[in-house]
Amino acid sequence: MRKILVAGNWKMHGSTAMVQELLDSLLTAPARAEVDMAVFPPFPYLPLAQSLLADSPIAWGAQNLNPAAQGAHTGEVSASMLLEFGCRYVLVGHSERRTLYGETDEDVADRFERALEAGLEPVLCVGETLEEREQDRTEEVVDRQLEAVIGRSGMAGFQRAVVAYEPVWAIGTGRTASPEQAQAVHAFIRDKFASRDGIIAGQLRILYGGSVKGSNAADLFAREDIDGGLVGGASLKADDFLAIRDAVA
Ligand code: 13P
Repeated sequence: MRKILVAGNWKMHGSTAMVQELLDSLLTAPARAEVDMAVFPPFPYLPLAQSLLADSPIAWGAQNLNPAAQGAHTGEVSASMLLEFGCRYVLVGHSERRTLYGETDEDVADRFERALEAGLEPVLCVGETLEEREQDRTEEVVDRQLEAVIGRSGMAGFQRAVVAYEPVWAIGTGRTASPEQAQAVHAFIRDKFASRDGIIAGQLRILYGGSVKGSNAADLFAREDIDGGLVGGASLKADDFLAIRDAVA
C-alpha cells in the first residue's frame, strides 16, 4: 500500500519569521503517522528548515537543482549543497520552471538524473496547459515529459522518485482538476509504468497538484491512483496545510 504524501511547495514565498511560525505550528500539531509530510522552502530557508525539522517526521526538499556538480553557473544550486542541508527531496520540472525559465524536457531529465546520482529523491512534475487539454493532448504531453526522463534514467530511476501530475491550468487558479480528471491522468501514468515494470509502477507515488485545498483533498486522495498532493498556496498557512493532511482517510 502506498503511503499518502502531502508536500508543500512554497515557491518564492516566505521570510525567516514565516518559516519559523509555520514549521513550529506543523510540529506542534497532533501527529498523524499514517501520512508522510514534506515541505519545499526557497533555498535560503533550507538551513532553518533543517534545524527545525531534524528529528521530526516532516521531510524537506528544494525546489530545483542544477545538473552540474559545481562551476560557473551563477545563480544556480548543486545537489551537494542541498545534501549539506539535509534535503531528502528535490522538485524537478515544475511547470513554472518549464514555462518561466525555459527548462526543456532534456533539462528536466538532466536534473532528475543528477538528483538520483546524488542520493536525492526527485519529484518529477508533469502536466499539460489548458490549450493542450482543450486540444485533447493531455496524455501525449505527459507521455513526452515522462519519456524524456525514462530515456535518461531508465525505469530503475523511478524506484526512488515521486511523480507529480500538475495540470498547468489548475495551478494557482483555484480551478482544481476534478477527481475524475485527475484520476484518469494518474491511471494513464501508472499504466504507462506498469507496461514496463509492474513492481515499480505499483510502488510509485503519484501526487496531484493544482489548487489542492482542505475542501477538495479528501475526494482527490480517495482515488485509486492519487497518492497525495503537491500543494502550493494552501501550504503557506499551517491550518490550511494541516486541513489537507487531515483529509486523508
Ligand atoms: P497551487 O496549490 O497554489 O495551485 O500550486 C500547485 C503547485 O504548483 C505546487 O507545486
